[in-house]
Amino acid sequence: MSSFLVTGGAGFIGSALVRGLLREGADRVVVVDNLFTGHLKNIEEVRGRIDFHQVDIRDYDAMRNAMEGVEMVFHEAAIPSVPRSIHDPVPSHDVNVNGTFNVLRAAKDAGVRRVIYAASSSAYGDTLVLPKVETMATMPKSPYAAQKLMGEYYLSVWASCFGLETISIRYFNVFGPRQDPSSAYSGVLSLFMKHILARTSPTIFGDGEQSRDFTFVEDVVALNLRAAKAPASASGRVYNGGNGGRITLNQAWELLQKIEGVSIAAQYGPPREGDVRDSQADTTLAVKVLGHAPAFTFEEGMRATLDWYRKSQ
Ligand code: UD1
Repeated sequence: MSSFLVTGGAGFIGSALVRGLLREGADRVVVVDNLFTGHLKNIEEVRGRIDFHQVDIRDYDAMRNAMEGVEMVFHEAAIPSVPRSIHDPVPSHDVNVNGTFNVLRAAKDAGVRRVIYAASSSAYGDTLVLPKVETMATMPKSPYAAQKLMGEYYLSVWASCFGLETISIRYFNVFGPRQDPSSAYSGVLSLFMKHILARTSPTIFGDGEQSRDFTFVEDVVALNLRAAKAPASASGRVYNGGNGGRITLNQAWELLQKIEGVSIAAQYGPPREGDVRDSQADTTLAVKVLGHAPAFTFEEGMRATLDWYRKSQ
């Protein structure tokens, strides 16, 4: 293992990846984060083993400088959230589209070999058939989905026009320790964790029968590490990074009540705009080409996550 850079490396997924790279014996890990949604506490325990740059990915000179001598970039930095991109589309466009463009430009100029990108399952929109396969037409339903899809296109173009190796991994609702539950835009399971521990009711948007392929963060980390080792023939393509399952919000809240031995009814509100109804990954391509091997059941991931939130209270 050699020299890596993680954008958004102080964030929920990025910091898990940083720890994964260090566990694997990476020689050098550079972390770039502007701390907009990331937190230094996420990388506190590894601070002495990384090279941290508080930099915005839209700053070309700073990115070019941070990438000096780096072989591979994991691009995790983004302004996430479907509803945030609807309520306030300009910042999310600027970071998710222009920022990604800038990361690719700096990577090419710095002589980086490969960029691995956090793409999103939201690109599919509502498909007629489940599970969702990479060959299906994309139908973004929100600015966020369109922005993340644009990033995929840019990666494949950087592969074909500029010889950069690129791999896009469409994440499917990643959850786990360190996911920040403090905002209305936070991932639903982090909000569920907060509510079950406080013994309060979460709000479910719609009837709760919408489903997601919730994927435990350590499975996503493992997949990224495999993508880093994949042959050059894997480059220029898009892969589903899901678990392959499908859980409704009602089932997820039910499970948390069972684990905690409590009964707390959820409140139900109107469906959220831009929401995809169902999401489930066909993992065949990622398994075959990248060696994807999800190791956590939904319940195992939920138990590990709940333990973490309990301890960090
Ligand atoms: C979407 C992407 C996901 C991406 C994420 C980034 C899809 C299928 N998934 O997640 O890959 O990582 O954006 O932000 O598009 N909800 C509630 N109550 C709440 C909060 C949310 O009921 O308090 C509901 C939402 O309406 C939605 C589900 O929970 O139906 C999941 O929402 P969220 O966690 O925000 O993620 P997605 O928008 O599905």
